Amino acid sequence: MLKVAVLASGTGSNFAAIAEAAAGGRLHAQIVGLICNVAGAGCLMHAERLGVRAIVEPSKGVKTPEEREAYDLRVAAHIEALGAELVVLAGYMRLLTPAFIRRFPDKILNIHPSLLPSFPGLRVHESVLAHGCKVTGCTVHFVDEGLDSGPILAQAAVPVHEGDTPETLAARVHQAEHRLYPWAIEQIARGRVRIEGRRVIIAGPPAPPASPA
Ligand code: GRF
Repeated sequence: MLKVAVLASGTGSNFAAIAEAAAGGRLHAQIVGLICNVAGAGCLMHAERLGVRAIVEPSKGVKTPEEREAYDLRVAAHIEALGAELVVLAGYMRLLTPAFIRRFPDKILNIHPSLLPSFPGLRVHESVLAHGCKVTGCTVHFVDEGLDSGPILAQAAVPVHEGDTPETLAARVHQAEHRLYPWAIEQIARGRVRIEGRRVIIAGPPAPPASPA
């Protein structure tokens, strides 16, 4: 069983999808803990419901480079104390410091609500709609020191519908995320994944889960 620590800041629907897959025996992974930087965030309620150990490490007021590095060191210490072998970012709204990323080389995953390398950063669905895209989606990638720029492990396409708002589109992309993220973690848990430069090779995979219509 791959030991996974999840870092989240918000509602935690991806965290819930991953923890439910693990609890249901659909993932060869054990969620050893949730680390949240926002007291009272929705993800903490999911952790309680699912019996996952939750650690709150508030990041409010953490601003200078020195404070950010010290903060990330505290988070890294939690991850190591939990014995995690993979760090999964699920709506973790903080930029990680290089020191943190170097501490877990090729062991940090993120999910982003667009088909990277299009639309990195924030306000993704607004930008997708402003560009008149017909297709969007989500991307699971390894984290490097750039913004949403690491090697891509998996993607799912999601259609943009006439009359979509950022909210309706976000909801459709979320559905795809909830299938794609557990699938991507399972490939790592099964030892099928290797990184070659910018490319991620998945050995003998079944197709990623189908996208929503
Ligand atoms: C997701 O859309 C994910 O792609 C982005 O943050 C959002 C988190 O949503 N990184 P949730 O908290 O998992 O519901």
